[in-house]
Amino acid sequence: MNSSELEGLMPELTTAPATGARRPAVRVKELAERDRRRMLMHFLVLDDSDRLLRFGTVLPDELITRYVQRLDFSRDAVFGVYDDNLHLLGVGHLAFTPREASPTLTNATLKERIAEFGVSVASSARGMGIGSKLFERAAIHCRNEDVDTLYMHCLSSNQTMIHIAAKAGMKIHREYGEADAYLKLEPASPGTMLAEAVEEQFAFFDYGVKANTKAAMKWLRKLPNWKK
Ligand SMILES: CC(C)(COP(=O)(O)OP(=O)(O)OC[C@H]1O[C@@H](n2cnc3c(N)ncnc32)[C@H](O)[C@@H]1OP(=O)(O)O)[C@@H](O)C(=O)NCCC(=O)NCCS
Repeated sequence: MNSSELEGLMPELTTAPATGARRPAVRVKELAERDRRRMLMHFLVLDDSDRLLRFGTVLPDELITRYVQRLDFSRDAVFGVYDDNLHLLGVGHLAFTPREASPTLTNATLKERIAEFGVSVASSARGMGIGSKLFERAAIHCRNEDVDTLYMHCLSSNQTMIHIAAKAGMKIHREYGEADAYLKLEPASPGTMLAEAVEEQFAFFDYGVKANTKAAMKWLRKLPNWKK
């Protein structure tokens, strides 16, 4: 199936979200082992206030490095959005934990696992819908993984994240300067399976085009008569 056939099949995945003005399409791709270095680059340029919002504490570089080294792609799902140079503009980490491991959520679900979501977007790329798209992808992935409780922890002052959570229908509980947000998800359906597979295909094509363009430009720049 080629890109235009895919666009015909799922036009809603090729256009901007329904909020406000049209934005460039955001392609969310599942990340893997080979993306670890790019993830590290993404996190290391977050400033102190972003690190506080993302991790709940101003994590120093060494602990960020350890966090990235320890990401377990076989247990969790990590999603990313690349720019044209294949730098990561946004990273969303969906951590799956057994229900019993989280005493406050044990009664929230009968499923074996719950999911916790954390997200960051490069400061230069904010307001373009990347954070929202990463969240949407995480939610559909949970459904397809038979997880019905999506949890997020953030500071009460994080108005942007609280806006994204509320927009997605999350119930938000604020206490002592912190906010917990929960989303109960519907079960998976053939539609959610197809939507996630198609989204991944689009992101895969998009990545391939960017990688090939980058390689071609690198080669062209080596030509003796090449002018920018
Ligand atoms: C939170 C974060 C991921 C959002 O990423 P983003 O790509 O800018 O998000 P989006 O563009 O998808 O959406 C931003 C939404 O928040 C709204 N918004 C922006 N600033 C806001 C504010 N101060 N108050 C309320 N809403 C705000 C925007 O209008 C937009 O809403 P819309 O889509 O309904 O128009 C990004 O700001 C970030 O990385 N912050 C630091 C880390 C962090 O806070 N992580 C979350 C904790 S896990």
